Amino acid sequence: MSIAQDDFDYLRTLVRQRSAIVLETGKEYLVESRLAPLAREVGVEGISGLVMLLRTDPRGQISNKVVDAMTTNETSFFRDLNPFDALRLKVIPDLIAARGKDRMLNLWCGAASSGQEPYTIAMTLREHFPQLNEWRIRFLATDISKEMLRRSRAGIYSQLEVNRGLPAKYLVKYFEQKGAEWQVRKDLRDMIEFSELNLAQPLPPMPKLDIVFLRNVLIYFDLATKRDILARVRGALHPEGYLFLGGSETTLNVDDQFRREACEKTFVYRPIRK
Ligand SMILES: C[S@@+](CC[C@H](N)C(=O)[O-])C[C@H]1O[C@@H](n2cnc3c(N)ncnc32)[C@H](O)[C@@H]1O
Repeated sequence: MSIAQDDFDYLRTLVRQRSAIVLETGKEYLVESRLAPLAREVGVEGISGLVMLLRTDPRGQISNKVVDAMTTNETSFFRDLNPFDALRLKVIPDLIAARGKDRMLNLWCGAASSGQEPYTIAMTLREHFPQLNEWRIRFLATDISKEMLRRSRAGIYSQLEVNRGLPAKYLVKYFEQKGAEWQVRKDLRDMIEFSELNLAQPLPPMPKLDIVFLRNVLIYFDLATKRDILARVRGALHPEGYLFLGGSETTLNVDDQFRREACEKTFVYRPIRK
């Protein structure tokens, strides 16, 4: 099966309008492999059948499912490790010193996928900073994908998923076995508020953020979208706040109002103070 050029163009325009994700020429195979199961699920003949359906109802349920299917949700617990060392060894201790008076911390994980990243942050806080139990912590984790949000809220992971990066002592301490799977304990799940947020749109009102994780998502956007998103994130950050990006992402040559700081074995990004 191969996808017609018209259908590919229709689908990539729809995905870009809705999520800002750019599907370049050459990504036809990706569209086909991600959407063929959806076409079968809704009972139409291939990608062309799906596009016909979409043309009759471009903003309906099916179009949400198309956008969902075209997101890449690759993630794991303690992914890349260094950012979590930086969080533990430098960022949180600095913030505890800076916010000692208010005893308040605001965190946002802006591309949470199936939840491993926000739960890694929550476990790091619990494991190493018991004094924060007395603080007011607001921890928001968001994604554009409804399916990923459903998974994050459930906090249920397969053996394979917990084997990817989660130390055994964390598994024992912060998870409960559910048959062949593992569920994050309720008190840890309750630390995080999961909600839908499209980074391509203006941000909802938020308290000034101390820590933002926005890792491995800017790579899917064009330069103008990256600029817009980074400007909005900068506006939402506390002047002393910290932004974490993915290993192949940077603010350099995208938003010059951030400065890049070496932190343990990684980089963090902070608003330039005027
Ligand atoms: C590769 S995952 C990254 C997960 C995690 N941050 C990590 O680094 O392991 C990218 C996530 O970005 C989400 N995403 C893509 N476009 C988005 C958008 N416009 N708004 C919000 N989330 C988006 C996808 O649904 C996906 O879950």
